[in-house]
Amino acid sequence: MLRRDFDFETSDSTYSSHSIHPFAAKFPPQIPRLFIEELTQSGDSVLDPMAGSGTTIVEALLLRREAFGFDIDPLALRLCRVKTTWLEPLELERDGLEIIQGALKLCTSQRLLRRELEMRFDTETKEFLDYWFMSETQLELLALILTIERSTTSPVRDFFELVFSSTIIAKTGGVSMARDLAHSRPHRDTTKNPRNAIDEFRFRLAKVIKKFQNVPQRVKRVFVMDRSAKEVPLPKESIDLIVTSPPHANAIDTLGGVTLCD
Ligand SMILES: C[S@@+](CC[C@H](N)C(=O)[O-])C[C@H]1O[C@@H](n2cnc3c(N)ncnc32)[C@H](O)[C@@H]1O
Repeated sequence: MLRRDFDFETSDSTYSSHSIHPFAAKFPPQIPRLFIEELTQSGDSVLDPMAGSGTTIVEALLLRREAFGFDIDPLALRLCRVKTTWLEPLELERDGLEIIQGALKLCTSQRLLRRELEMRFDTETKEFLDYWFMSETQLELLALILTIERSTTSPVRDFFELVFSSTIIAKTGGVSMARDLAHSRPHRDTTKNPRNAIDEFRFRLAKVIKKFQNVPQRVKRVFVMDRSAKEVPLPKESIDLIVTSPPHANAIDTLGGVTLCD
């Protein structure tokens, strides 16, 4: 039986790796934490078959439980993996500085960047970019992603790509011309004066690296897989607790029943 209430309104939900990137319908980490603390013990196994951004998985890791996460959304899977992978903070700081300096240098070669922009995207994508991003923001973002691609490899690259993405996918629309990106349908606001994308990346990176210092090195197994909740490949009785939050009813028609295989 649970002995605590669910009043988390004033609690900080941004600790550890939880706040690296926004995700629709993420639940406060205090919810899975409460269930995991009250209903399992250190070493037990916790499953989230619709793991989303990995809130349950991160909490299970922090509480020294074995964690199993499944989802069918590539962003969700990327978030789960990055948020549960310990990376050396000093290396992240060093690589981050190199990326910022490399991007700033690339921005001095505007002709090269414009050519790269033309080559990299088809007409439809370019129209999309022109609709949502100012021309100089496109070049700043391109300079950043080119430097990330050139100077890092996975899993560090996955981390930097998420920080990069979070400069765009932010509640306020980040460095794009979008408003209301995270919680409602985005719309274009031509009066918006977006921040410099490289400055924004630098700002977010510093915040995230500080928080990532609290991601524990894996002491228990953390298992994240691209698999539907309908076909979770785990034997019955292998899981001590399931903590999950399914998509809003009638939002996505993918749910079905959750089955543990023999
Ligand atoms: C409400 S979100 C979960 C949010 C998560 N609790 C968090 O804190 O980030 C629901 C998730 O269910 C996933 N989902 C939907 N249908 C699924 C299916 N058949 N199998 C696995 N995951 C599914 C979606 O991709 C989405 O990431």
